[in-house]
Order: sequence, then C-alpha cells, then structure tokens
Amino acid sequence: MQSEIEFCDEGAILSAKEPLGDGLAHLTFQAPRIAKAARPGQFVMLYPLSEARSCDPLLGRPMAIAGASGGAVEICLSLAGRGTEIIHSLPIGVSCRMRGPLGSGFSAPQGKIMLVGGGIGVAPLVFVSAFYGPSAPSMRFVMGVPHRGWESFVNWVGRRVQALHVWSDDGSIGEKGSAVDAACALYSGEEIWTCGPVAMLRSLVRRISCARIYASLERRMACGYGGCHGCVVPTANGPKRVCRDGPVFDAEEVCWDEL
Ligand SMILES: Cc1cc2nc3c(=O)[nH]c(=O)nc-3n(C[C@H](O)[C@H](O)[C@H](O)COP(=O)(O)OP(=O)(O)OC[C@H]3O[C@@H](n4cnc5c(N)ncnc54)[C@H](O)[C@@H]3O)c2cc1C
Ligand code: FES
Repeated sequence: MQSEIEFCDEGAILSAKEPLGDGLAHLTFQAPRIAKAARPGQFVMLYPLSEARSCDPLLGRPMAIAGASGGAVEICLSLAGRGTEIIHSLPIGVSCRMRGPLGSGFSAPQGKIMLVGGGIGVAPLVFVSAFYGPSAPSMRFVMGVPHRGWESFVNWVGRRVQALHVWSDDGSIGEKGSAVDAACALYSGEEIWTCGPVAMLRSLVRRISCARIYASLERRMACGYGGCHGCVVPTANGPKRVCRDGPVFDAEEVCWDEL
C-alpha cells in the first residue's frame, strides 16, 4: 500500500500518556506529517534519548501505529527493556524524533475480515478497525490477553472497536483460551488479519490452514526503512525485510518453520 509521503523524520511532541496497567501505556504524539500519511499496519521508529543531546540509545524502537488522526500519532507501549522504559518515562511536552510512517500495511478489505490480536499485537489492529471499520461493518475483532491485569488495555480497546471478543489465557477476563483458540472457535470463512508473537502467528496459520491470513511480523530493527537488512525473514520468495517488504505478509509466503 502506498502512503502520501514515503516517510519522514519529525519532532514528535508527547501530548498525552495514559497508563493501562501491567507495564502498558497509551501514548499520543503530535506529529502532523506522519499522522496524515499513516495507514493501518504501518509503524514508526521512536528515538528515545536518555538525556537531551545524547545519542543513547542509538537505535530507534519500532512501534505500531495504533491510531492517527487530527495531527496525532498514537501508540500502545508494552515495557520490554531499556528503550521502552525510556519511552514510558518521557514527560508530557517533550519532543522526540519519530520516523514514519514505515512499512506496507493492510490493503483495503475486500470482504469479511476477522482481526486477531495477541497481547500488544492488538495495537495495529485497533487502527485497522478505526480506519476501515466504518466501511466494513462485518469486521470482527478478537483479542487474546494473558490475564485480568490487562483489563485497562482491554477497556481501552473496547472503547474504540466494534464487535470485540476478549479471551484470556487463564479465563480471568472474557472467555478462557488464547487468541488462537478464540479465532478457531469463531472462524466462519472470513479473511484473517493478525498480529502478535511469532509462536501465536505460527499456531494460527497451522490451526486454520484453510484461511487466507495476512500477518504483521515483528523483528528487531535498526534502520526501519530497508537499508541495513537487519530484519529479514525467510519467505518462499527469498529473504524479505520486515520493515520494508512488510511488516504485513501473506502468511502463505512466510517460512514459519524457519522463524
Ligand atoms: C513492526 C513492529 C511493531 C511493533 N509495535 C510495538 C507496539 O506497538 N508496542 C510495543 O510495545 N512494542 C512493539 N514492538 C516491539 C518493540 O519494538 C520492542 O519491544 C522494543 O523495540 C524493545 O526495545 P527495548 O529497548 O525496550 O528492549 P531491549 O532491551 O532491546 O529488549 C528487551 C527484550 O525485548 C526483545 N525485543 C527487542 N526488540 C524486539 C522486537 N522488535 N520484536 C520482538 N521482541 C523484541 C528482546 O529480544 C529482549 O528479549 C514492535 C516491533 C516491531 C518490529
Ligand atoms: S531494519 Fe534495516 S532493513 Fe529492516
């Protein structure tokens, strides 16, 4: 999918921060150029600097675009290590470098779609739902979370999407089971668009092998725009860069056993 600009670097001002429990947060940045061009499934690289004028950490951190409207880019953050901790602790009003929108996302839906998100992989699908949902009323949204500690995140998603089905690993919120269990139980022949950990995606592809599936993959990234080849995945058509050729891939193309 083409966006209006290929990508740009923009000083993004953090304008709102909403903690969502269990190391999760929803952050809103004012970044009008990126927001205007962003399409569902694309991502940004955020460059969190530990101190003003420092270059540490050197590399940006890829974050899916969870929403883009009115000049604002939204992300949902899950704490993983130092980079995400710095982003999480940024004060309101700070400006940090944002590169985007990056990658090729989900194309406009042609028929019925089931969105299947696992954990923080739900974030890009929220943007899909907001962007395409009004013209695709039959779009269903399935999210899998570990446990009730994710309730604030579930509520945040619930305020934004229609026809939400919540499942949790321990059954403490929604139905009991994983996102893949949920997808298997609810599947009725539609196309599946999904994002989550590789193990989840692999399992989904195996268990609903008859479905047309588009999967958004995650890889560690350095440049985010195709220059370093640090994020390649094996596919039936040779190695492909997640940041540039993806992150959204036709699941049939991906060599899941080699990931
Ligand atoms: C296209 C894309 C979209 C993403 N969207 C989001 C998002 O919306 N919200 C979010 O919270 N995170 C998202 N991630 C993952 C996020 O980029 C990583 O968690 C983050 O870069 C880790 O940085 P860190 O310095 O905190 O952790 P590090 O200290 O670098 O690593 C901590 C742990 O996280 C693992 N890790 C690091 N980078 C990645 C990665 N890219 N993918 C998977 N595991 C990783 C490491 O192996 C290690 O176990 C996305 C990744 C990609 C590639
Ligand atoms: S991160 Fe550099 S090519 Fe993908």
